[in-house]
Amino acid sequence: MPRPLTMTPQSLSPSRMTTLGMLLGLLVAFCFTFCLGHQNPNEFALTNLEKSSTKEPEKKETIVEEEMDTEVLEVFQPTHEWQALQPGQAVPAGSHVRLNLQTGAREVKLQHEDKLQNNLKGLKKGKRLDINTNTYTSQDLKSALAKFKEGARRESAKEDEARKAEVKRLFRPIEELKKEFNELNVVIETDMQIMVRLINKFNSSSSSLEEKIAALFDLEYYVHQMDNAQDLLSFGGLQVVINGLNSTEPLVKEYAAFVLGAAFSSNPKVQVEAIEGGALQKLLVILATEQPLTAKKKVLFALCSLLRHFPYAQQQFLKLGGLQVLKGLVQEKSTEVLAVRVITLLYDLVTEKQMFAEEEAELTQDVSPEKLQQYRQVHLLPGLREQGWCEITAHLLALPEHDAREKVLQTLGALLATCRDHYRQDPQLSRTLASLQAEYQALATLELQEGEDKGYLRELLGSIDNLLRELR
Ligand SMILES: *[C@@H]1O[C@H](CO)[C@@H](O)[C@H](O)[C@H]1NC(C)=O
Ligand SMILES: *[C@@H]1O[C@H](CO)[C@@H](O)[C@H](O)[C@H]1NC(C)=O
Repeated sequence: MPRPLTMTPQSLSPSRMTTLGMLLGLLVAFCFTFCLGHQNPNEFALTNLEKSSTKEPEKKETIVEEEMDTEVLEVFQPTHEWQALQPGQAVPAGSHVRLNLQTGAREVKLQHEDKLQNNLKGLKKGKRLDINTNTYTSQDLKSALAKFKEGARRESAKEDEARKAEVKRLFRPIEELKKEFNELNVVIETDMQIMVRLINKFNSSSSSLEEKIAALFDLEYYVHQMDNAQDLLSFGGLQVVINGLNSTEPLVKEYAAFVLGAAFSSNPKVQVEAIEGGALQKLLVILATEQPLTAKKKVLFALCSLLRHFPYAQQQFLKLGGLQVLKGLVQEKSTEVLAVRVITLLYDLVTEKQMFAEEEAELTQDVSPEKLQQYRQVHLLPGLREQGWCEITAHLLALPEHDAREKVLQTLGALLATCRDHYRQDPQLSRTLASLQAEYQALATLELQEGEDKGYLRELLGSIDNLLRELR
């Protein structure tokens, strides 16, 4: 799905008031101080209407003018649905605007009932068009156009010069405008407030399923930032999302996992709280039960984020029978497409543990003793062997894709110390390795002929050769 950049024109936090928000504001502002007044006056067909000698151009020009009226100066009236915004359309303050990265279209919808009310009030009052307010009403826009037309009609070459100077005066450096935007006396909605709003939306029993999913979808964008994820935790939002994993709606499970995966990512504080909030059990339950593949995919992603660099969670994972659950995923027909992801997770866990074992041997000062102690208590390798993962990993080498094979070969290498005996006694593994060796010898030769002397396929061949040597 495309990742929309979501923002709220009237409620931008300073940090988010960046490129897009600025652009939107500046564009609207410039259209009145610059584009309309300066860029291409003839296009507006306002200068020489009276002097036109033929009827044809006049007609044409009038049409152009009307088009400008409706297209450029129209204030878009959003509804509760996302709708594409046409170039040049102004948006009432308080609308929800996002950039659809797939279509490139800006889309807009109503934000809030209460905000709409405020905005309607603003419309009735007909605020003055001013750089210092970000509310442009259709009345403002029309009167601005009317003034422009008046000015344009009177225009002579001399006046044109004067107007250009005026435009130049109005056309201030972007830095200056930015400063003014920062000083804007508008309601600033911080990331925290946005997250609270989204959580309330999601947590509210009066929200529809679509609204809940949309809230989670938007929330995911915010929790990528470590600080935001920790803020989510501070007001109890994380637990609400974790509880979402219990929903009877598969989509809610899926999008709750989507948010959690982003929130856990390299964020130890959040990872710890999530374990205490029961996230691990819930994730495993989803993986172990009948669920749509899309939900399981995101849940597996969240599980990876939760376990990574967090030995305590890894211990709990093993205690709760996590390896058994992953085995089920790899062996079930409906979920075997997840096998490579599962293998990648196991590979990461194995190498992470090995890395810490090495650090321990070197007695480095960088790692806390508790963490080393915790890694020591992650009894991953015996668990893998006992539960038949030597066999499972060996059989996954039959996968057809190069990158899947690459991952499996890596994992076989990482498990060599644990599974060597098993691998040696597995006739199918030797056959598979031998046939892969032949296949990649041919491919690596072709690769070499194409001028790649350190190619990907040669690397794969190298791993196969190594493995065969080790198993001899
Ligand atoms: C979510 O809703 C429940 C019940 O409606 C309420 O008790 C809880 O405080 C809410 N949580 C948040 C973080 O708003
Ligand atoms: C969520 O579901 C699990 C079982 O899947 C159950 O043990 C737990 O009590 C439920 N939690 C909530 C908050 O409903």
